Amino acid sequence: MSVMANPQSTLATSLAGVTLTGPIISAAGTGGTATELADVLDLGDLGAVTTKSITPEPRSGNAAMRVTDVPAGMMNAVGLMNMGIEAFLGDIVPGLGDRGTVFIGSAAGHCVEDYVQVAAAFDSIESLPLIELNLSCPNSSTGRRFTDGPAELAEVVAEVRAAVTGTRLLVKLPLLFETAVPMAAAAIEAGADGLTMINTVPALSIDVHSRSSRLGFGHGGLSGPAVHLPALSMVQRVHSGVARDAGVPIIGLGGVRSWEQAAAFVLAGATAVGIGTTLYHDPAAPRRINRGLARWVRDQGCASIEELVGTVTLG
Ligand SMILES: Cc1cc2nc3c(=O)[nH]c(=O)nc-3n(C[C@H](O)[C@H](O)[C@H](O)COP(=O)(O)O)c2cc1C
Repeated sequence: MSVMANPQSTLATSLAGVTLTGPIISAAGTGGTATELADVLDLGDLGAVTTKSITPEPRSGNAAMRVTDVPAGMMNAVGLMNMGIEAFLGDIVPGLGDRGTVFIGSAAGHCVEDYVQVAAAFDSIESLPLIELNLSCPNSSTGRRFTDGPAELAEVVAEVRAAVTGTRLLVKLPLLFETAVPMAAAAIEAGADGLTMINTVPALSIDVHSRSSRLGFGHGGLSGPAVHLPALSMVQRVHSGVARDAGVPIIGLGGVRSWEQAAAFVLAGATAVGIGTTLYHDPAAPRRINRGLARWVRDQGCASIEELVGTVTLG
C-alpha cells in the first residue's frame, strides 16, 4: 500500500506562526551544536532542529562520566557544554541557511541577564525563527533556578520577551505535577509563544560495587523510554488546562521512538514532537515516524495532522 501522495502537506505544521514541513523536531543537545545530524540523516526529515543550549560564555561541562545507559533509557550530566554565543554567531550561524529545515536557538545561562543576552543575539538570525529558553536543565551546579515557582519563571520570560522582537519564544519546562498548569500559565502570561516539555528528569544511578554514582557529576538527567508516559501526561494536562484556550502550541518531548508515541503526543495536545535520545541509536527514526504519521492521519480521515491535536478522549 502506498503512503500518502503528498505526506509533506499532511504533516506541515504551524508552530507559533512558523511553518514547519513536519512535526518532528530534534531535541536540544542531542544532535551536536546545530547541523551535525546531517552526517547521519537528511535534515529535511526534521521540521526543525534545536541547537545545543548556548550560554554567553563557552562552557566545558561536567567531569566524566557524562553519559550512562540505564535500563529504560539513558542518563546524562553533560553540564551545558557549549561554545558560547560569540563562537556560535561566528562559526555556526553562517552555515544554517538552505538546510531544508529551520533552527530553534536554545538559550541557557546562570541569571536573567544571560538569557536576555543570548536570546537578543539569536533574535537577528533569519534561519533561526524560534528561540527556546532552557530553564530546566537539571545538570548544572551554578546559577539561579527558574522553575521553582511561577514568579521566578515569569521574571525571566518577561525580560527575554522585552528584548526579543522578531523571533518566536518557546519556554522549555521540566516534568511538573500539580504545578504544571500554573507554571505553564505563568510562562504564557509573561509572553511565551509556545511551550516545550519535558527536559530530562533528575535521577541517580549507583554502581553498588564501587559504591559511587555512575556519573561524574553525581546526579543526572534521565531521558528516553522511561520518561515518555509522564511527559505525555504533562502535555495533556497543560494543553487542556491552559494552552488550548490561550492558543499556545506545545512541543511534546520525551522518550519517542515510534510513530505511535509521536501520535500519542499529538492526541495529548502537542503541535510538534521532539526526539532526543533515540537519535543516538536510530537516526532513521524521524523519516520512519513521518511515514507512520502520514498514514495515521489518512487512516483517521484527516487532511492535516493539525486536526488531530488534542483530540484524545480521557476516561
Ligand atoms: C546528552 C543530552 C544532552 C542534552 N542537552 C540539552 C541541552 O543542551 N538543552 C536542553 O534544553 N535539553 C537538553 N537535553 C534534554 C533533551 O533536549 C530532552 O528534553 C530530553 O532528553 C527528553 O527527550 P528524549 O527522551 O527524547 O531524549 C539533553 C539530553 C541529553 C540526553
